[in-house]
Amino acid sequence: MSARVDGGRSTRNRIEELPDAAGRFGVYGGRYAPEALMAALTELEEAYRLARADVTFATELETLLRERAGRPTRLHRVPGFERVLGVPGARVYVKREDMAYTGSYKINNALGQALLAARMSRTRVIAETGAGQHGVAVASVCAMLGLRCVVYMGAHDMARQASNVARMRMLGAEVRRVDTGGRKVKAAVSEAVRDWVSTTDTSYLLFGTVTGPAPYPAIVRDFQTVIGRESRRQLLAATGRLPDRVVACVGGGSNALGLFHAFLDTPEVALIGVEAAGRGIETGQHAATGTAGAPGELDGSFSYLLQDADGQVQRTHSIAAGLDYPAIGPEHGYLKDRGRVRYHAVTDAAALRGFRAFSRCEGIVPALESAHAVGYLMESAERGELAPDSLILLGLSGRGDKDLGIAAVTLPEA
Ligand SMILES: Cc1ncc(COP(=O)(O)O)c(C=O)c1O
Repeated sequence: MSARVDGGRSTRNRIEELPDAAGRFGVYGGRYAPEALMAALTELEEAYRLARADVTFATELETLLRERAGRPTRLHRVPGFERVLGVPGARVYVKREDMAYTGSYKINNALGQALLAARMSRTRVIAETGAGQHGVAVASVCAMLGLRCVVYMGAHDMARQASNVARMRMLGAEVRRVDTGGRKVKAAVSEAVRDWVSTTDTSYLLFGTVTGPAPYPAIVRDFQTVIGRESRRQLLAATGRLPDRVVACVGGGSNALGLFHAFLDTPEVALIGVEAAGRGIETGQHAATGTAGAPGELDGSFSYLLQDADGQVQRTHSIAAGLDYPAIGPEHGYLKDRGRVRYHAVTDAAALRGFRAFSRCEGIVPALESAHAVGYLMESAERGELAPDSLILLGLSGRGDKDLGIAAVTLPEA
């Protein structure tokens, strides 16, 4: 059997434009939502379809991304980190989403969806947050656009990301503490959805990652693909070629998808998602869904989940609140099965090592989430997996100010 050839390239492994009309990425995705939300999700899907086709919407978003979010963000070489890796001739370019307004890539999606909320005449925005970066981005945009903002956050996350709680409140958001379940982002998602069930007429649910019922995985991805489009252009301008590897951390998977999308159709570029191995996969205390999960349904979508033999969703652990979630988005499920993205996990300890090393050799304090990608590259170099002269694109999803308290306790000599 011969595969169809399209423009000189075999299409057998071509990554399709997804989702399909049912919100599916292959077998993953869909809309497993309570009946009470079906009309609101359909309305959102239609509003988004119209917004995508509207030049005014695109222009307004582009202007805000440039004027307020500081896009395009920088892409530059990190020679100090290259010396740490010690791989002859290897070059690393870093995409500085930590330099975007509010300190992370979360602002791209927050701006896009808040504009959508305003178009839909919603005056109140509901969000869930784990690390607090999505909450801060949404709170900032709501302040800017004059929208009311309610952020749900697990009590455990409120304690470990307290500086972001203070920021959200300063920005005028109401932060609602969630004491159910693991008191982390999974519980916060449930409470945010519960709120929306009874307030769909006035409220917009502004989801922060590529999970949830259709159309959220596609909406969040679309607003984040600006990261990869810029990176591809900037790297080509700087080096005249495409990278050998693109590396990004994966919680629900939105910064990684945003970076990877511009390279999906170029099979020579290896795409690597780095997850949280927490205290070690073998301990069961981790959040490495793409590495150790299996298909199942959670929070409105069918994708890979961490679950036990009875199909119960497992409690997760990661030192990085933004990675501490038991599912990845459905498009990640699809890309994993196609072998287009490979998933690796690094422990809390490896992430902390990356956190400190990157701070000291480059003068850039990465978010603990991003530090997982840094730690992965350090471990790969030590294992001899990075080829000499290779070109690596590293996604730095956010800045680490929020994590200095955690580092002070866990890195005593820091
Ligand atoms: C700085 C930062 N990076 C990465 C993530 C992980 O989320 P995602 O996988 O959706 O990009 C988060 C989540 O809160 C975050 O705050």
